[in-house]
Amino acid sequence: MTLRRLRGSAAVRQLTRQIRPHPEQFIQPHFVVEGLTGREPAPGLPGVYRETADSLLEQLEVDLRRGVDKVLLFGVPRDKRESDFSAEFVAQQLHSIKRAFGDDIWCAVDVCLCSATTHGHCGVLDAEDERVDNKGTVTELARLALAFAEAGADCVAPSDMMDGRVGAIRQRLDQAGYEHTVLMSYASKFKSSFYGPFREAAESAPRATHGPLSDRASYQLDPGRPNDALLSARRDADEGADILMVKPGLPYLDILSRLAATLTLPFAVYETSGECAAMALLAEAGLTDRADAQREIWTAFVRAGAAMIISYSARDAAAWLS
Ligand code: PBG
Ligand code: ZN
Repeated sequence: MTLRRLRGSAAVRQLTRQIRPHPEQFIQPHFVVEGLTGREPAPGLPGVYRETADSLLEQLEVDLRRGVDKVLLFGVPRDKRESDFSAEFVAQQLHSIKRAFGDDIWCAVDVCLCSATTHGHCGVLDAEDERVDNKGTVTELARLALAFAEAGADCVAPSDMMDGRVGAIRQRLDQAGYEHTVLMSYASKFKSSFYGPFREAAESAPRATHGPLSDRASYQLDPGRPNDALLSARRDADEGADILMVKPGLPYLDILSRLAATLTLPFAVYETSGECAAMALLAEAGLTDRADAQREIWTAFVRAGAAMIISYSARDAAAWLS
């Protein structure tokens, strides 16, 4: 077989290519931090900032002019608490985004507690402060999700990994008349070493240095349990998720491929902060070309079954994919 015939020229390679990631498929994450006097670079993520309320709108405007019209917002409130979390800071940002851009920007918002808790966990702790309390957390998340929907979010995206939060959020939204608000579930989110830059930017690292509260292993998936990812994704689909996510991306391509082939909902893949930072560092050291590397990775995501890609380099997708 002469397979090289169809590899022989750019023209024939273009004509025979099956997989083409497209800029329309990308979602750009943003961090907005309460109480900053000016925006600060997010460590490890070139071109990404911990934005102020004002600088966020400016960045959104710049991005929108370049065609980036889908975003995922992470709000970082100044006051850290153990209970009674306030939706206000994030809701204000959603209001001002919608006031400024209306439907020109599709705005998803992360729903979690880790940027707002004193201890850095994605939920509230039980009475003994020993573990993350599922029921109490789900109640808080559903309340926040509704407040974000009321503030204009097009999509709410719970990233906490508690059981039952998708059903609780969907029910709460529907009861209040927000049946059009999209729910994207971080359904298959693994306990990972690739979240480091995010946790710096979002002030969300677990504060404990030892013991069960020093990491997120009691609620995020174990990398060695692929079946748990299938159970979690299927459960979230049954509870009413519209979009399912696999996260991180590159180390979990097998999961993405298996889930996308098994379940019929659209899949998002999250190219995490650590994955993006790794490519930036490799390129900075002169050891790869960043655009080529990202194009290859994004092709792998689409090949594995992703309908959409959340990436800190989303704003470069148009340039790097052309
Ligand atoms: C927190 C959250 C994390 C990310 C999204 N939401 C980190 C974590 O679970 O500690 C990861 C994003 C990234 O690394 O880019 N709920
Ligand atoms: Zn969290």
